[in-house]
Amino acid sequence: MAGAVVTGWGIGLPDKIVTNQDLSARLDTSDEWITDRTGIRERRIGGTTSELAVAAGAQALARAGRTGADVDLLVLATTTADALVPGTSATVQERLGVRGGAFDVNAACSGFVYALVVAHGLVTVGAERVLVIGSETLSQITDWDDRSLAVLVGDGAGAVLLEAVDGPGQLLAWDLGADGSLRHLLKCDHGGYLYMNGKEIFRHAVRVVVESSLAALGRAGLSPGDVDLFVPHQANARIITAAAQRLGIPEDRCVVTIDRYGNTSSASIPLALADALESGRIRPGSRVLLSGFGGGMTWASAVLRWGG
Ligand code: ACO
Repeated sequence: MAGAVVTGWGIGLPDKIVTNQDLSARLDTSDEWITDRTGIRERRIGGTTSELAVAAGAQALARAGRTGADVDLLVLATTTADALVPGTSATVQERLGVRGGAFDVNAACSGFVYALVVAHGLVTVGAERVLVIGSETLSQITDWDDRSLAVLVGDGAGAVLLEAVDGPGQLLAWDLGADGSLRHLLKCDHGGYLYMNGKEIFRHAVRVVVESSLAALGRAGLSPGDVDLFVPHQANARIITAAAQRLGIPEDRCVVTIDRYGNTSSASIPLALADALESGRIRPGSRVLLSGFGGGMTWASAVLRWGG
C-alpha cells in the first residue's frame, strides 16, 4: 500500500511586525500582561490568505524540487478565506499552477492537521503528490479595539508537500474529533468580528489536546515518552505548557513559536513544524506529535515518523 512522506516545506509571512509595545500604545494593555498571560511578544500582520498561502506553497515546492505542474491535489486549511465563494484554494491553484484539484478545509485552528490526515488518505487512494497549506489572516476578522482578542492574533501560512512512497509512509496514527455543542465558545458571524470565550476555550483546549494526543499515540503503539518532538497549536504558551506537563513531555521537546507569530490558527502548526525542520530539531526517524484544537470545537492529532 502507498504511504506518504513530506518532501518539502515552506512558510509565508507578512513583512510587518507588530510588537506588544505597538499594541500598548493604542490599547489598554501592556507588554507584561501579554507576555505573562500568552507568551506572545510580536506577531506579523498583513497580506491576504491566498497571498500568504502562495508564498508558503511556492517555498515547499521549491524545496522539494517540484512545480505546481507536479501536484495532483491542493488542500488549503483556512478559516479566513479571501471570499465566501470561490474557495481560496482556487486562487492558490491558479497562482502556483497546480495541475490537479483544489479545495478548502475549515476546521478552525485544527484545520492543518485535518488537512494533513485527509491528504495522507488521498495518497492511499492514488494521489502522487498533495500540497497541504494552512493559511490565515485572522487580523481581518479581529476588532482592533478589543484588547482581549487584538493581542492574540497574527497572520501567516505554512505548507508541506506530501509525496507517495511504497510502504507505510510517515503517518503512524491520527485522531480527529469535534464537539459542535461547544461552537458558541469561538465564532465569527458573516461580516462580524471574532468572538471568543477565552477561559472556557483554555479549559477545554488542555483537555482535548491531552486526550487526542494520547488517542493518536495509543493507536501508533507509542506513549508520550516516545515523542521526540511535540508540535502543538500555538494559541497560548500556558496551554502548551499545561498540555505538555499533563502528557509528561519535557519542555525541551516542545516547539514554541507563539512569541514571534501569535495565534495564526490553521497556520500555526505548519509554521512551528517548519521552524523545527529549519533548526534541525527533526531528523530522519524522529517521532513527531502534532496536536491542534480550535473553534467548533475541533481537535486533531497526528503521529509521524520522519523520513517514512
Ligand atoms: N491586556 C490587559 N488586560 C487584559 C487584556 C489585555 N489584552 N485582556 C484581558 N485583560 C484583563 C481582563 O479584563 C481581566 O480583568 P479583570 O480581572 O479586571 O476582570 C484580566 O485581564 C484577566 O482576564 P482573563 O480573561 O481572566 O485572562 P486569562 O488569564 O484567562 O487570559 C486569554 C486570557 C489569554 C484569552 C486566555 O484565556 C486564553 O488564551 N484562552 C484560550 C484562547 C485560545 O486558545 N483560543 C484558541 C483559539 S483562538 C482562534 O482560533 C482564533
